[in-house]
Amino acid sequence: MIDSHTVAFVSGANGGLGAQFVARLLARGAGKVYAASRAGDVELRDARIVPVPLDVTDEASVHGAARLAADTTLLVNNAGVNRHTGFLAPDAIDDARAEMDVNYFGTLRMARAFAPALISSHGAMINVLSILARTSLPAMGSLCASKAAALRLTESLRAELAPHRVRVYAAMPGAIDTDMSRDFDGPKLSPADTADAALDALTGSASEIYIGAMAQQLAEGLALDRAATQAQLL
Ligand SMILES: NC(=O)c1ccc[n+]([C@@H]2O[C@H](COP(=O)([O-])OP(=O)(O)OC[C@H]3O[C@@H](n4cnc5c(N)ncnc54)[C@H](OP(=O)(O)O)[C@@H]3O)[C@@H](O)[C@H]2O)c1
Repeated sequence: MIDSHTVAFVSGANGGLGAQFVARLLARGAGKVYAASRAGDVELRDARIVPVPLDVTDEASVHGAARLAADTTLLVNNAGVNRHTGFLAPDAIDDARAEMDVNYFGTLRMARAFAPALISSHGAMINVLSILARTSLPAMGSLCASKAAALRLTESLRAELAPHRVRVYAAMPGAIDTDMSRDFDGPKLSPADTADAALDALTGSASEIYIGAMAQQLAEGLALDRAATQAQLL
């Protein structure tokens, strides 16, 4: 539940889905929202927004943000990169490393740094993954691998934090209408609806949130016939 006692921290808050997490948290009555971006310059359009500089690949930056936002009760790990590359592309190793550093290690760094605040507040963490955490799209194979790693991370964090009454959610949307998917011509979710669906999970019973028809249909297909569903994406 989000109310005036909620102190949220959103990474990658300068645009795309992150900006909509900030907007929807404020609309739902959050008391304070730390809006983190690499430049630390998120627009102050509401007095409850606190801009924070954050690069999730930099341990010192992550710890600085966690110190500044020690009253966080809801962590939204939204920052992510997608180099849109297959494993045989010329720069595949560099691309895979960059995606793992942000999508997997970045989420891990953030979870470790913010765990004390979440434990003391019996708070919650939403990790923004992707339906591609559950399956492979070869045109962006290394992105899928990084999100799959982040899903395993999320599952383990959920178990480690459950005794401390901290809830951990995996948000798995399909394509969203942001810069990251600008070259995708298929149907896309609105960033605001995606943020709302992820925040709704805080009052529901599911910890894996499939957002939008594309993600829900793929998850159902994978449960029924994993190989056949995966084959459709090749
Ligand atoms: N768009 C989609 O179709 C889609 C689908 C499923 C899941 N997702 C996930 O949704 C999340 C948000 O993505 P988006 O669609 O809003 O894409 P986006 O517009 O490209 O936003 C990505 C955000 O992550 C930030 N970021 C990247 N590297 C960072 C770093 N090292 N440290 C801190 N912040 C960093 C970016 O900051 P800069 O502006 O400084 O680069 C930006 O704010 C991501 O986790 C993405 O994987 C997206």
